[in-house]
Amino acid sequence: MSIRLPFIKNKQKELSQLTTIDKENTPDHVAIIMDGNGRWAKQRSLPRIAGHKEGVNSVVKVVRAAHQCNIKVLTLYAFSTENWKRPKKEIDFLMKLPKEFLHVHLPELMEKNVRIQTIGDFEALPKHTKDTIQHAMNKTKNNDGLLLNFALNYGSRDEIMHAIKKIMEDVNGAKISIDSLDEQVFSKYLYTRGLSDPDLLIRTSGEQRLSNFLLWQLAYTEFWFTDVLWPDFSEEVFQQAIEEYQQRQRRYGGI
Ligand code: IPE
Ligand code: IPE
Ligand code: MG
Repeated sequence: MSIRLPFIKNKQKELSQLTTIDKENTPDHVAIIMDGNGRWAKQRSLPRIAGHKEGVNSVVKVVRAAHQCNIKVLTLYAFSTENWKRPKKEIDFLMKLPKEFLHVHLPELMEKNVRIQTIGDFEALPKHTKDTIQHAMNKTKNNDGLLLNFALNYGSRDEIMHAIKKIMEDVNGAKISIDSLDEQVFSKYLYTRGLSDPDLLIRTSGEQRLSNFLLWQLAYTEFWFTDVLWPDFSEEVFQQAIEEYQQRQRRYGGI
């Protein structure tokens, strides 16, 4: 008995987590700017990469929580088009994290019916990163539960410029007419084509800016900021964000 007790306790904790969330009124699409890994490491006199490594555990936690609350899309900002300005050693480490995450957690993602997708300039990523992610995308492509969408080498201005160039090509090639171009058609040229706009944006680490994230798509999104650093993010913090979102009144310009 004394050996089994801790297991039972853990199980009960898992089951009781997130039960206070009204699961009927959860956001369909949650986007997160996962920030503060470097500062988390600095506070512990560790190298910045230790913060990124620890941040992977928070990704695991938030995916489990999103799955449990029936959220349809979880978009995680993992690497921006501006993050190439960082030291090569740090970039190299970040580019290995998808493998670290997927190697351990792909079976669980399959079991939870999660589909993996990315937004951003995928082709410009290192080959080993692309191969790992492509494998996971292929493997999960028929799953129809939570869509786990990683923003990787993503920049909103880059996305918009890319869309404009493609639209001009299609106009020149008579594939579309200028008259038919409207917000809906434009949205189909973005990396997020087919996805609803985020209902809730979370940014950790106390910064209150978008850092080139989803500028078009966040037009009517609810924003929620927390001082918690990404490696300290937990199911409880996620629950707090969802509960506060559920208190918001969204008006979309109406009354
Ligand atoms: C977020 O943490 C991860 C990435 C941007 C890749 P940071 O690395 O930006 O951490 P801080 O903001 O320096 O603390
Ligand atoms: C935004 O964080 C990008 C990601 C979380 C991937 P940054 O740390 O790069 O943003 P800034 O530089 O503080 O605006
Ligand atoms: Mg940062």
